[in-house]
Amino acid sequence: MNTGKIAVPTVVVIFGGTGDLTKRKLVPAFYHLFLEGWLPDKFAIVGLGRSGFNDADYREHLHEGLTLFSRSGKPAEEKWAQFQQSITFLQSDIDNPASYTQLAERLNAFDQEWGMRANRLFYLSVAPRFIEAVTVHLGEAGVASEVERDRIIVEKPFGKDLATARSLNQLLTQTFQESQIYRIDHYLGKETVQNILAFRFANALFEPLWNRNYIDFVQITVAEMVGVEDRGGYYEGAGALRDMIQNHLLQLLCMVAMEPPVSFEAEEIRNRKVDVLQAIRRFTYEDVNQNAVRGQYGPGWVQGEKVPGYREEEGVNPGSNTETYAALKLHLDNWRWQGVPFYLRTGKRLQEKTSSITVQFRPVPHLSFPTSLSENLMPNRLTISIQPQMDIRLRFTAKRPGLSMTLIPAEMVFDFNSYSKNSPEAYETLLLDAMQGDATLFMRADQIEVAWEVISPILDTWDSRPSLEFPNYAAGMWGPENAEALIAREGHTWAVSTVRNR
Ligand code: BG6
Repeated sequence: MNTGKIAVPTVVVIFGGTGDLTKRKLVPAFYHLFLEGWLPDKFAIVGLGRSGFNDADYREHLHEGLTLFSRSGKPAEEKWAQFQQSITFLQSDIDNPASYTQLAERLNAFDQEWGMRANRLFYLSVAPRFIEAVTVHLGEAGVASEVERDRIIVEKPFGKDLATARSLNQLLTQTFQESQIYRIDHYLGKETVQNILAFRFANALFEPLWNRNYIDFVQITVAEMVGVEDRGGYYEGAGALRDMIQNHLLQLLCMVAMEPPVSFEAEEIRNRKVDVLQAIRRFTYEDVNQNAVRGQYGPGWVQGEKVPGYREEEGVNPGSNTETYAALKLHLDNWRWQGVPFYLRTGKRLQEKTSSITVQFRPVPHLSFPTSLSENLMPNRLTISIQPQMDIRLRFTAKRPGLSMTLIPAEMVFDFNSYSKNSPEAYETLLLDAMQGDATLFMRADQIEVAWEVISPILDTWDSRPSLEFPNYAAGMWGPENAEALIAREGHTWAVSTVRNR
């Protein structure tokens, strides 16, 4: 929870300072925090990388990124002129201790100039194989030793299975205390996702209905139209389960299914989320066949453009067994949710880009109206659209105005765009939180590990039995047919997309 402009001098050190994330997301986020007056007066960004940039080149490189990717477009000249003064570049080699000595000198120079020890935020925007070197060298250089002031942000992927996530956690805790470690999941910074907590816990209306007595099923869809873009190499070792379900979708599930927290303290919220993950019924080998569906896109058409299949993408093995689509049916073994299926699905190269959560209520217990009038009667449904639409819709039944008694589905809508057309990006919220020392929206070690535990049986089963059907959906479709069967078994259907249902 952001509490106002940061008062403490802060230095942000970005490992991977010349990478894509820095240019597309991190620096635009800091720039907007600057524009809106959140950053401290004494603030610096130090970008690290191997290239031979000087400060001017580096600033120019970031300016290009801002122009292309920032939510407000090309920065205004006088604002940029002011902001860029806080940015410097340090040429460095992740594996070389001498680079960390130079970094220490740079950091000490800021402290001297500002007359006090600044807070330090180390952002690891690097490939997983470099995390160990950075952590160990930061420890040896003694630059991150003030527990209250120094923090480290670690990007996903956080491990590639339970064992690697555990060893990564162990490695990080050799240098940092858990309270200093901020494992990022950018979905939690999205406006619409944060609003789930407000919606559920700042209203008396919904919570009494939010359980197995009134809710029939819950669906979480994160559908993308893009393919693997230029990340074929990474994606080959990941797949939809690791890339999206283990983190983003399970976190959305936690927001929907968690018990009301006693307070908004980071530990309390994170405890309630871990409870949800622990309640997820673990898959047996049989369950994987029954309750998990995988898919891989073949060639197809997306928005009138012919696109290649996954196996034809750059960096992808032509016989690849990696899934680009996954759908799961989960059950939570607790009092609130016993018997309520949670359907999760995500995929690349689907028909639309849409992320939403659908909460379907049970049908009315008795139909008072003659059957002829009840044709249009549909159960109440709450749709939380996360992106690109940002709204909450509650479907209910109404009488069509007129002399006859005709029942029609109607909607009540809360539209984020009616408040602000230009909501902050997830990274703005998350970076501000990390600078303020609020870990509520970041993953704790146990959260990550339980999430891996949940998907491990599926990963193991799929890894050990390559699919004979891949590719099993054409790019531009809604995924493999089996995914329809998965949900149809209980008489349910996917809420295709909120756009098309309107
Ligand atoms: C990332 C995944 O975490 O999330 C990508 O690695 C995916 O594969 C992306 O495309 C989706 O994020 P968003 O915010 O565009 O929904």
